[in-house]
Amino acid sequence: MSSERRYDLVVFGASGFTGRFVLEEAARCAAEAGRELRCAVAGRSKTRLENTLSEAAKSLGKPELKEEVDIIVADVNDPESLAAMCKQAVIVLNCVGPYRFYGEPVVKACVENGAHCVDISGEPQFLETMQLNYDAQAADKGVYVVGSCGFDSIPADMGVLYTRDQFKGTLTAVESFLTTSTGPEGGCIHDGTWQSAVYGFANSSKLQSLRKKFGQKPLPVVGAKIKNRSALFYSDEIQQYTIPFMGADPSVVKRTQRFLSEELHETPVQYRAYVGVGGVSSVIKLLFAGMMFWFLVKFSFGRKLLVKFPEFFSFGYCSKEGPTQKQMEGSSFRFANFGEGYTEGQDPSEGKPNAKIRTLVQGPEAGYVATPIAMVQAAITILSEPESLPKKGGVYTPGAAFAKTTLIDRLNKHGIHFSVI
Ligand SMILES: NC(=O)c1ccc[n+]([C@@H]2O[C@H](COP(=O)([O-])OP(=O)(O)OC[C@H]3O[C@@H](n4cnc5c(N)ncnc54)[C@H](OP(=O)(O)O)[C@@H]3O)[C@@H](O)[C@H]2O)c1
Repeated sequence: MSSERRYDLVVFGASGFTGRFVLEEAARCAAEAGRELRCAVAGRSKTRLENTLSEAAKSLGKPELKEEVDIIVADVNDPESLAAMCKQAVIVLNCVGPYRFYGEPVVKACVENGAHCVDISGEPQFLETMQLNYDAQAADKGVYVVGSCGFDSIPADMGVLYTRDQFKGTLTAVESFLTTSTGPEGGCIHDGTWQSAVYGFANSSKLQSLRKKFGQKPLPVVGAKIKNRSALFYSDEIQQYTIPFMGADPSVVKRTQRFLSEELHETPVQYRAYVGVGGVSSVIKLLFAGMMFWFLVKFSFGRKLLVKFPEFFSFGYCSKEGPTQKQMEGSSFRFANFGEGYTEGQDPSEGKPNAKIRTLVQGPEAGYVATPIAMVQAAITILSEPESLPKKGGVYTPGAAFAKTTLIDRLNKHGIHFSVI
């Protein structure tokens, strides 16, 4: 598929807040490899894409970027333009979201026109719908569609695989605790992610009926069953108040573990994800904001308010402008994974786990620094290691697609670090 196509990478939605950073990351990686960047940017507005290229060229100190990178005009609402884009690409890096509104035509066009597709969706309903509707067709075409290749959910999903691979014996459970930190300027999330969350939570009840359509049996529990924690608790592990993580990670990790268990006959790892909130004052703020969010998100009028005034309803944590450069430079994330299992020779069907492991996945600011790194490395892995991907194409989670590749080494070299404590 690769060499006859004009571009290795096409960044679709490059004029968006995240898309521009994905373009810059791709350009940095090409420079690092000393290769010409066979890359194009795509989107619905030529002028906005030209501006993006100028800004990226300036920020990278690489004026030649404007000559090296071509522009493709393509609109989600125009299937012919999407087909024309996909025919020229080995891989489309799709940054156009919320994916529940804009994602499906891109996956369809990629599958029909033989382009691999990676996205940074954190929306389980979209991700699972794509698996249901396009997995068989993608397999027939030899196309890899790999969703959630950003902060959602590469660190979590690959973190579980890393923990399993470092454990001497059979790893049966992982509890992961996410903490984020910001510098003196604080942190912020761009409007695109806020909107994805608003509509995602509004439709979360539809997930159950969607999952029934897969007709899957429950994933077998190997070893002692992992305990469920309460909705709010003080975690000794990370020394702060903690709640269950409501992003895409639990859904993505579970799908990966199902794939590894059913297709490769590996032991599935049970997984629970939590996120640190901080001290008592943060808990009070979160409870207040959470209740307001849950109430408003249920009504169309409430959703309009949330989307119109992100800053107000998120206590300044989301904005239409997104984080400043200084905020991004001062922010970081850290997943502490606590795994348990059975040492070699111990039967997981008998008795309690007799060994533990602790791993860390740490990186820079999650949304706009770590996400572009993860997305670009995912795409480069598809380009460089086709023999290590699953045997046939299909719609995959990152863990399912990249379990046998060197993605973790690549991430380690680019600032997302995996380590054992
Ligand atoms: N997984 C993660 O950790 C993570 C991190 C960051 C972002 N994200 C996700 O990435 C997505 C984008 O976020 P963002 O903050 O970058 O949003 P954004 O700034 O609003 O960017 C959206 C992009 O979509 C394009 N677009 C909208 N409608 C289109 C259409 N009909 N045809 C073609 N392009 C269209 C926009 O083009 P114009 O410029 O022409 O308007 C823009 O380039 C969201 O779903 C967000 O949740 C995920």
